[in-house]
Amino acid sequence: MQATFGRTKLVLVQGDITEQKTEAIVNAANSSLLGGGGVDGAIHRAAGPKLHEECLAIRAKQGGCPTGQAVITGGGNLVAKYVIHTVGPIWHGGTQNEPDLLYQAYSNSLNLAQENQIRTLAFPSISTGAYRFPIREAATIALRAVKEFVEKYPDALDEVRFVLFSSNDLQVYEQTLHKFINTN
Ligand code: APR
Repeated sequence: MQATFGRTKLVLVQGDITEQKTEAIVNAANSSLLGGGGVDGAIHRAAGPKLHEECLAIRAKQGGCPTGQAVITGGGNLVAKYVIHTVGPIWHGGTQNEPDLLYQAYSNSLNLAQENQIRTLAFPSISTGAYRFPIREAATIALRAVKEFVEKYPDALDEVRFVLFSSNDLQVYEQTLHKFINTN
């Protein structure tokens, strides 16, 4: 499914984020930046050891990456030139500022893309796997973060892609996107 927010193309697709041909892909990392399972594991496997080395260098400089924040590395063996690593919140029932931290993870990733003149970017569905954030609420936060970023910086991005791993997740994002399109 495709749509536009201003002049920025928004694409929802089912697939593997490591195969996306965007300039940057976003990793659903953890605060240690040492890799893990899910998207994190897939990206580190596809990018190769250079990614891990760059993450170690960031750790040496600033420690890990706090929840809601983002850091950027090269893409190693990936097609994408950059990987933006962001840490989404672990769901604890919604009473520990999880929605705002998830919004920050998306907006800080978008800010980093802009700072690095990146114009095409692919996101996974951050926090909706191991971190158990409910997908429908997460999709609303994700799309709102992109929409509000594009309203603020209309010329910053050509394309933002959400790469969903399952057809169910894709369907939820599509239903959510329809809400955004039909409300304005
Ligand atoms: N491409 C796109 N999406 C994927 C891929 C992939 N190759 N692999 C998994 N996903 C999907 C999952 O199905 C889920 O919908 O990404 C979403 C996020 O799931 P996780 O990767 O588990 O990320 P998250 O919920 O943010 O948990 C992060 O898991 O892997 C560890 O180190 C990571 O500790 C961190 C935690």
